[in-house]
Amino acid sequence: MASEVFPFSRSGGLGDVLGVLPEVLAGQGAQTTPSMQVTVVSPWYGSLAGQPTELWRGVLPELTSGPAPIFEVRVGEIVRSGVQYLFIDLPEFDRPGLYFDDDVHRFCLFGRTVLSVLHQIGVVPDVVHGHDWQSGLVVAYAHLAGLKTVFSVHNLQYQGRWNMEEAARWTGLPQWTLGPDALEYHGDLNLMKAGLTFADAVTTVSPTYAQEITTPEYGEGLQGLLIRLTVEGRLSGILNGLDQERWDPRTDSDVPQFGDPAGKAAATALLRKEFGLDDAPILGVVSRLADQKGIDLLIEALPELTPHWNVVVLGGGDPLLTAALSGWAQHPRVAFVGGLNEPLAHRIYAGADIFAMPSRFEPCGLSQMISMRYGTLPVVRLTGGLVDTVPADIGFRFADATPQALSAACAEARAEYDRPDVWQARMERAMALDFSWQGPAAQYMALYRRLGR
Ligand code: GLC
Repeated sequence: MASEVFPFSRSGGLGDVLGVLPEVLAGQGAQTTPSMQVTVVSPWYGSLAGQPTELWRGVLPELTSGPAPIFEVRVGEIVRSGVQYLFIDLPEFDRPGLYFDDDVHRFCLFGRTVLSVLHQIGVVPDVVHGHDWQSGLVVAYAHLAGLKTVFSVHNLQYQGRWNMEEAARWTGLPQWTLGPDALEYHGDLNLMKAGLTFADAVTTVSPTYAQEITTPEYGEGLQGLLIRLTVEGRLSGILNGLDQERWDPRTDSDVPQFGDPAGKAAATALLRKEFGLDDAPILGVVSRLADQKGIDLLIEALPELTPHWNVVVLGGGDPLLTAALSGWAQHPRVAFVGGLNEPLAHRIYAGADIFAMPSRFEPCGLSQMISMRYGTLPVVRLTGGLVDTVPADIGFRFADATPQALSAACAEARAEYDRPDVWQARMERAMALDFSWQGPAAQYMALYRRLGR
């Protein structure tokens, strides 16, 4: 279960992962266990990109004791590449867009319906795997129903918290689960904690992040619980893969010129033309504009960067960061486009020379893997999945979350860029890396089997 699933709904990396992992799992399952079925459950958003076929519609019987809302739901299905995608339609999700201020309430309602919906349509899960806080309640319900559960943390910063006095009744859970040993956190309901507490196994999306989150610096207040999970052997890191078909420079229709041997240079020339840039090399960024991503560090470093680089940024989010970048876009060497724009993202990944990710924390990060496939060398802060995916002889890595450290790493890149042979060798190593999902999917499969036994 997850709150976003590419290509039907997506705001970031979570949606990307759910757009490929289930298919790879289904493929692997088909080889070893022909009866295995992978079902993905997600909300039927008003803005869902896809037309599910209605499978079931009705009023759900109450799941638990306690004052219960009546759930009138509709369930739609899309089958694709061997995976069953179920979309649950609740009135609260019938809006344009994915996330809103009342999400804790909405995902409580959603979480209460998932298992009964599966029951209604005859899907009997062996393992329930929830992703991020939006699935925390499903994991709790599944555990209480005696099912095996996996919970994956894609980002510990978003926890799904709400004042317990109000939120307790949204959960429909028995009182004993609502204390500090389980769902309560400093007077709030905390749905991330629900997943962490009730899952048989907890995973996060890189080995380095799995260690980092047991420290106060990265634990977002939950490090005590995460240390306990580690000691009990219940927490592990499984590195994300990359959808190497969706991100294949040789067949990418958004950058057709990449198919030629001189493709990279052609993609760069076109990006330069698109934004009226001069001959200086191009630093690209495609990112959610959020504190996590260190975009403020990039903005502060711009005075140091623009004498040596053109800078092209694509991304949406924080209004202050958006305003600052819009201001900088007056500069002849800076281009900024707000929001999500998939074709432009491809053109930046393909056309830039370096790709900056000055993240304060990064559970895995997908952009650095994409850039390397397109021969764009990443400049990354050494944190989380960036440590695990960017080799020192390919990318430019720095430790401190400061504009100075970022510009020093970019200066190092600039010196290398001026040695074409050395640069070319780095690019070739980058493009030869393999980020297939087969390995990671096999690790999830092994986990499911271990629990299912
Ligand atoms: C979140 C994390 C990112 C990770 C993605 C997919 O967006 O911030 O680091 O790559 O989830 O797991």
